[in-house]
Amino acid sequence: MRTALKPLALAAIVLSALTGCSDVSETTTSFSLVPLPGSPTLPSGVAPPDLDPERVAAGRVLYAQFCAGCHGADLKGAADWKVPNDDGSYPPPPQDSSGHTWHHGDGLLLEIVLEGSDFPESRMPPFGGQLSEAEVLSILDFFKSTWGPQERTRQWEVTLREGAGS
Ligand code: HEC
Repeated sequence: MRTALKPLALAAIVLSALTGCSDVSETTTSFSLVPLPGSPTLPSGVAPPDLDPERVAAGRVLYAQFCAGCHGADLKGAADWKVPNDDGSYPPPPQDSSGHTWHHGDGLLLEIVLEGSDFPESRMPPFGGQLSEAEVLSILDFFKSTWGPQERTRQWEVTLREGAGS
């Protein structure tokens, strides 16, 4: 139930709506790569930037330390991650191509990891007190290194669109 929304929560919902991920049931049942509604046409041939192997390696180490306990050493998340818990929260989703992290641009992902998620009753802790922005970006680079070319391209498009809108 969403009554008395705080401005931050509202902003997060608007952001989620912009990235096409406002509804969990929608995002967990469909992984097709259809264009996002309302998405401006991006220049064709936009390729995601190459990943820096050193940052990917650093991100892998940080992931093992801070994230793997919930999202899995193999990035597969909880086996039943699409099934809500009794309190309406969701179990940790995968971080590889089989999840939906790649549906979000870098800006929103940074915000989720540093400031916390807007999922109801979220069990994802905010890491702003423990990790710097650069460290979280290196963890995101580690995720990106496991995504397929389609997921990487799509995520980069959303990131560019995010930047253009801010
Ligand atoms: C205590 C368990 C826990 C830990 C530790 C944890 N997460 Fe999560 N994470 C979750 C849960 C549960 C969700 C599911 C959505 C929600 O409740 O916000 C989630 C969601 C996410 C999402 C959003 C995925 C999406 O598609 O919306 C990202 C990104 C994420 N986590 C990254 C991380 C990173 C990076 C770390 C380590 C720095 C981390 N998580 C550590 C439990 C955890």
